[in-house]
Amino acid sequence: MQSEINPISYPQIGQGDGVYISTYGCQMNENDSERMMTLLEMMNFRPVTSPDQASLIIINSCSIREKPVHKVHSEVGRYRKLKEQNDKLRIGVAGCVAQQEKEKLKLDIPLIDFVLGTDAIDKLPDVLSKVRGGQNMVAARFEHQQPYHIQTLIRNPGVSTFVNITKGCDNFCTFCVVPFTRGRERSRPFNHLLEDVQKLTERGVKEVTLLGQNVNSYLSECGVNFAQALKRIASETDIERIRYTTSHPKDFTDELIEVMATYGEKIMEYIHLPVQSGNSDVLARMNRGYTREEYLNKARAIFAKMPNAVLSTDIIVGFPGETEAQFDDTMSLLDEVPYENIYAFNYSPRPMTKAAKFTDQVPDEVKSARLSRLLEKHREIAFKLAAKYNGQTLRVLVERYDQDNGKVHGRSTGNKNVHFTGSEALIGATVDVKITDAKPLVLKGEMVL
Ligand code: 5AD
Ligand code: SF4
Repeated sequence: MQSEINPISYPQIGQGDGVYISTYGCQMNENDSERMMTLLEMMNFRPVTSPDQASLIIINSCSIREKPVHKVHSEVGRYRKLKEQNDKLRIGVAGCVAQQEKEKLKLDIPLIDFVLGTDAIDKLPDVLSKVRGGQNMVAARFEHQQPYHIQTLIRNPGVSTFVNITKGCDNFCTFCVVPFTRGRERSRPFNHLLEDVQKLTERGVKEVTLLGQNVNSYLSECGVNFAQALKRIASETDIERIRYTTSHPKDFTDELIEVMATYGEKIMEYIHLPVQSGNSDVLARMNRGYTREEYLNKARAIFAKMPNAVLSTDIIVGFPGETEAQFDDTMSLLDEVPYENIYAFNYSPRPMTKAAKFTDQVPDEVKSARLSRLLEKHREIAFKLAAKYNGQTLRVLVERYDQDNGKVHGRSTGNKNVHFTGSEALIGATVDVKITDAKPLVLKGEMVL
């Protein structure tokens, strides 16, 4: 089988120059930045931590919510001086804004040297050869790739890393731009996943997070579904911990709950299950494919098999047409599902999406008032839920050591951030920690020897 990690040698066009990547948005973008950096290092570029040390700057953009093009404009603007001082400096834009705006982005912002589509990361060597050869405009591959192949290229995988399993999305939630920026859903071959996870384990990785816009609809060409893939990765590799994100409630199956419960030693009991709204009519207009009751039934089924499961969610407030009573259904959902964490957003119309054309848009001030109420309600709930950790002993995988205060940082099986006094030697170890001070976002404790 062909190795997916570092398989090819690339032209050494970087000549040791610094490269700075600025990443916005989701974990998919973080993973793309990581893969770009890996390729760039193989081309003899050197990662730097500030733009003024770089001869190449790449903005990996996101268009899921806020004014994305505006953000790219202002960030590129900040580099104008650097470009005047350093005629070697090249600036590229990748990610979802690049995919949406294509060549137009370069025409609108002449300081940009190249624009890279979301499926064009492996084109980077080509594009940079052209850019460095003096071509002043390169826009790379905006058609989504079929057949699809993404390599899990990871430089310094560390203790915990992502493994892409699907790419794109077919769900067309009416608010969401992802199907337009990332294209149709494609699943990676199962043997590639298995090989990636095992190779990463051999490089010292303790935890992988399987990554996709909707991991639950993963289906390999030989018919392995997501629950089966999880089960086989748990039983056929030496990886210690497996996580995944993001789930879609409509595709979250009993088979998956069963696998998680059975392989609980390896598959972590944390589930991010975006609900978006607590009202069934709003959910229908969002094209989510489930009702409030169906969602609640899934949540109940999860806790029935995994009483210690930790749930988090995404919520959109002020979706077009959302009435006060419909918003109250979202508020009351928080009383029914014990979410330890929520990510809540004001609805923001996105180009090309159906909901952007709905005529009953909710005024901004109404959205913001609802968002504040929701966050305030959740704050109280989160403090109550966190209190249960006081006195508990959690299994924590240590990821980081902070020299300044002598604390180590790790995550519990339920994905809680845990801080305690320790040493650098603990990085990569899984230890028991007794919690002494539990807040919603951070649990402090002491290692149990
Ligand atoms: N407006 C507000 N929030 C959005 N999200 C996606 N699209 C929009 C939008 N147009 C949120 C959803 C999704 C999360 C990643 O971003 O809650 O789950
Ligand atoms: Fe967007 Fe819906 Fe696909 Fe998630 S499932 S990426 S919200 S279209």
